Amino acid sequence: MDTRTAVIARRRLFSSAHLYDQKKFSREENLATFGRCHTPHGHGHNYVLEIFVEGRIDERTKMVIDLTDLDSILLTVTDPLDHQHLNFDVAEFKEKVPTTENIALYLREKVRIELQTRHPSLKLKRLRLFETDDLWVEIE
Ligand code: NI
Repeated sequence: MDTRTAVIARRRLFSSAHLYDQKKFSREENLATFGRCHTPHGHGHNYVLEIFVEGRIDERTKMVIDLTDLDSILLTVTDPLDHQHLNFDVAEFKEKVPTTENIALYLREKVRIELQTRHPSLKLKRLRLFETDDLWVEIE
């Protein structure tokens, strides 16, 4: 890594409900695959999204990205999920099962779009989505 580049990381919490149900599975298959996560109404999590943004340290500001801007990106991508039931309220998860893996992939795409629009020279180096303190998905 160039000495004038750095990675800045930031996290944001959001709360969502979900349930696991593969429409093409039978009830038995859903229960066998998803166990307690296959319920009609679901349950909630306090998710924590962490993003790691890599880029050149700006000569003038000495920062990779302004924190306000970084927070604005995090808010933009998590707000549509916050206090929503993912299966019923978020179009992406009407068909896709909202596993932590799928939510992480969805958020990666949203973060990429925001970065590309606002700061094309910056790169999303890593994304972590914590479902609980001891369970998370990481995408490089
Ligand atoms: Ni869950």
